[in-house]
Amino acid sequence: MYSEFEKIQKEALNSIDLALDLSMLDEVKNTYLSKKGIVVSLMSRLKDLAPEDKKAYGQGVNELKKVIEDALFDRQRVLADVALNQKLNEEKIDISLPGKTFNTAPMHPFHLIKDEISEIFLGMGYTIAEGNEIEEDYFNFTLLNMPENHPARDMQDSFYINKNTLLRTHTSPVQAREMQKHKNTPLKIISPGKVYRRDDDDNTHSHQFGQVEGLVIAESLSLGHLKATLDLFVKKMFGPKREIRFRASYFPFTEPSVEVDVSCHECNGKGCATCKGTGWIEILGAGMVNPHVLEMNGYDIQKFTGFAFGIGIERVAMLRFGIDDIRRFYQNDVRFLDQFPKR
Ligand code: PHE
Repeated sequence: MYSEFEKIQKEALNSIDLALDLSMLDEVKNTYLSKKGIVVSLMSRLKDLAPEDKKAYGQGVNELKKVIEDALFDRQRVLADVALNQKLNEEKIDISLPGKTFNTAPMHPFHLIKDEISEIFLGMGYTIAEGNEIEEDYFNFTLLNMPENHPARDMQDSFYINKNTLLRTHTSPVQAREMQKHKNTPLKIISPGKVYRRDDDDNTHSHQFGQVEGLVIAESLSLGHLKATLDLFVKKMFGPKREIRFRASYFPFTEPSVEVDVSCHECNGKGCATCKGTGWIEILGAGMVNPHVLEMNGYDIQKFTGFAFGIGIERVAMLRFGIDDIRRFYQNDVRFLDQFPKR
């Protein structure tokens, strides 16, 4: 009889060991411990036994039951752990997988430099004035001391829309517009934007390009103020080692007028191919606002003086980034554009 218990115990422990998941283990539990299970049926034989055998038999069945219950309990813990780990593994997020990428375009070098120029002057207390790309002849030329038939109009071949309207040839008409707006009060503005000229396109000329106009009007301004302003601009844009020089020039709306050169970044002023052997590279035009222009636009020239400058955006960008051909700005070649920083 007891060898039967042993046999059942052995089989039960074996089945428990072989259960690979919780539902298999449940089946084993049913087989042995449910109401119709083996242990209950062993117990039901008790009533047929002789009284002196009952105690030992009962103890035997109870021991058997206890062994099976303990084994089920231990195995259940192991399998529950396995099930949990499996679930965690299945639900794990693989953080080593590359994420979804989407391409952001880099800043266009034109806008990069336009913004940088603006930032430098905003830092010096200038504000930004907006102008019109389609401009009246009167503001583009006449109010800047270039009356009709003035030969200086030929310096800037123009796209006329009708007799009195054209695509502005420079940002300088913003000078006249701002002066008219703020009559006889100090001014300190820059105005970035696009301008148009009927040039034949080559590697340094384009029929459309960008300028940043600057205009300061106050009492007792001198060329010294202009030079200090542009010197600071150049050092911030091209580095602290760059020097500037003024060369006498001519613009109808400034007197005196200057072309401003920056010392060559390649050779530090010694002379090389980049600066065509001169040690200097021309970057902008400037001058003291012609008193006639101040007067025409409503300023008292006994009290006010002014200086103005016009910076070519592509020109500055070409020097900063070593770009060889202005046409690259407009061709939209991603191999070119991808070289600039993303912001
Ligand atoms: N408007 C001039 C040009 O386009 C540049 C300039 C601006 C010169 C302001 C003097 C003062 O050539």
